[in-house]
Amino acid sequence: MSDTPMDYAFGMIGLGTMGRNLLLNMADHGFAVAGYDKNQKQVDLLGQEGQGKPVKGFMDSKEFVQSIKMPRAIMMLVPAGAIVDSVIAEMTPLLSPGDILIDGGNSHFTDTERRAKELAAKNLHFFGMGVSGGEEGARFGPSMMPGGDAEAYKVMQPVFEAIAAKVDGAPCVAYMGPGAAGHFVKMVHNGIEYGLMELIAETYGVLKTGLGLDNAAIGQVFTQWNEGRLQSFLLDITKDIFAFNAPGTDHLLLDDIKDEARAKGTGKWTSQVAMDLQAPIPTIDTAVSMRDLSKYKELRVQLAAQYGPEAGQLPGNKEEVLRQLEQAFYFSMIMSYAQGMHLLAKASEEYKYDLHLATIAKIWRGGCIIRSAFLNDIFNAFEGNNQLAHLLLDGKVQPLVQGSVGGARSLIAAAVTSGLAVPAYTSALGYFDAFRTARLPSNLIQAQRDYFGAHTYELIGKEGVFHTQWTGLRDKVESPAGPQANQAPATPPVPGTKQSNEEPLNKHL
Ligand code: 3PG
Repeated sequence: MSDTPMDYAFGMIGLGTMGRNLLLNMADHGFAVAGYDKNQKQVDLLGQEGQGKPVKGFMDSKEFVQSIKMPRAIMMLVPAGAIVDSVIAEMTPLLSPGDILIDGGNSHFTDTERRAKELAAKNLHFFGMGVSGGEEGARFGPSMMPGGDAEAYKVMQPVFEAIAAKVDGAPCVAYMGPGAAGHFVKMVHNGIEYGLMELIAETYGVLKTGLGLDNAAIGQVFTQWNEGRLQSFLLDITKDIFAFNAPGTDHLLLDDIKDEARAKGTGKWTSQVAMDLQAPIPTIDTAVSMRDLSKYKELRVQLAAQYGPEAGQLPGNKEEVLRQLEQAFYFSMIMSYAQGMHLLAKASEEYKYDLHLATIAKIWRGGCIIRSAFLNDIFNAFEGNNQLAHLLLDGKVQPLVQGSVGGARSLIAAAVTSGLAVPAYTSALGYFDAFRTARLPSNLIQAQRDYFGAHTYELIGKEGVFHTQWTGLRDKVESPAGPQANQAPATPPVPGTKQSNEEPLNKHL
C-alpha cells in the first residue's frame, strides 16, 4: 500500500483498543483502513499490531482525511459527550459534501439526533451506531446497531456485514431505524446488561453467603449453568473470573477487588428514558441503584456494625436451593430481557423508530455482551409477531416462565428471610406478579390523589374524569382519625369539575 492520497477505504478516529481492533478486523476482511489519533503511542500500537496488513495510522488530521477515498467514510470511536462534538468540529472543515461520518461510541441518543441535524445542514451524512462486544468483539466480530441516515448505512453495509459476528451465517448487524435509533437500541442493550450483571452478582452473594460455597464450588456452578439453557457471554466470563488467580498468588484476583461498582452511565440513561416514556424496567433500575449503593462503602460498614449480624445461610437442602437458584436466575433473566424489549417497543412508538424487535434480538445473539441462548427464544417470539405487546405474552415463553417462577419464589423468600440482599431478583418477581395482576390496588392511589390534590379519577364503566369533595364525604363516615381530621381544609374544587355522582367532567382536564 502506497501513501498516496485516497488510498484507504475507511477511516477511524480514536485508536484506543476498540478503534484499533475494529480497524484490524476490517483489514483482515480485505479493506484498506486508516486510523487517526492525537496520541503517538496509539498510532504506534496500530502500526505494530497491523504489520503486514493494509493499515496506516496518522497523527495529522488533514493527512488522515486526505488518505481516504471519496466519498469518505469515517468512524469516531471516542468517549461520549463533549469530545464527540470537538472531534466533529475538528473534522467538518476537512470533509467534503457527501462524506459519511459515523459515531460508533456510546453517545446519548439526544446528542445523536442533534448532531445528525447539524451535519445534514452541512451536506454530510451522519449515523450513530452502537457497537457491542468489547475489545475481543471489535477484533473478531462485534454486534453493531446502526441507525439514522439509511443511504449512508447502505454504503457501509458490506464492510459492517463482513466484520460483524455471525450466527448461523447471519451477520450481527442490521439497520435499526431512523434518527438515533441505533444509539437508543445500544443504550437499552446496556441497560439489560446492567440487569443481568446485577443478577449474577446477587447469585454470587447467594452462593457465597447463603450457601457457604468456596470460590472453586461457585465457579463450578457458573460453569455448569453456562453449559445449559442459561448459556451466555456474561456467565462465560464469570466462570473464567472464578478461575483467575491474582498474579503471583494462589487466591482469586476477584477477592482483592473492592466491592464498589462503577458505571459510565448508559444504564442510568436507560432508567431515565424509561421513566420519561413511562415504561417500567424495575430490574434495570435496581441494577443502576445497586451500583450506586455499593459505592457507599464507609456507610455500609457503619450500618453493618449497627444493624448486624449480616445475612446468614439459607435453610434447606443445598441441592434443592441450587435447583431453585437456577430457576430463579432463568426467570429473572427473562424478566430483564422482557423489560428491555418492552422499553424498545414504547420508544419505537414514541420516537417513530419503527424498530423491528426480532431483528434486534437476532443481531444480539452473537458478538455482544448480552448474547445468550435465550435470545433465540426472544427472536422466535417477535419473528412470528412484531406487534407482540409484551414478551411474556408469547406462547412459547409462557411455559418457560411458569416452569421457573416457583423456584424463583422459593429462593427469593428464603433469601429475604435470612436477610440476604437480592434486590434485582426481588424486583424481577415483583414486576412479574404486578403485570399478571388484572386489578391492582392502584385505584387507591387515584382516590388519594383526588383527595389531597383534586387530581381527578376515572370510573369503571363510565366515560370521563371525576372529582369528589372527599372531606365532605368524611363528615358522614366514622373516621378513625377523630373529629380533628374533619377540620382539614377542603380540597379546592377544580374549575369545571363535577362530583362523582354527577355528570363526567370534560376530558380536557
Ligand atoms: C461499555 O459500554 O463499555 C459497557 O458495556 C458498559 O460500561 P459501564 O458498565 O462502565 O457503564
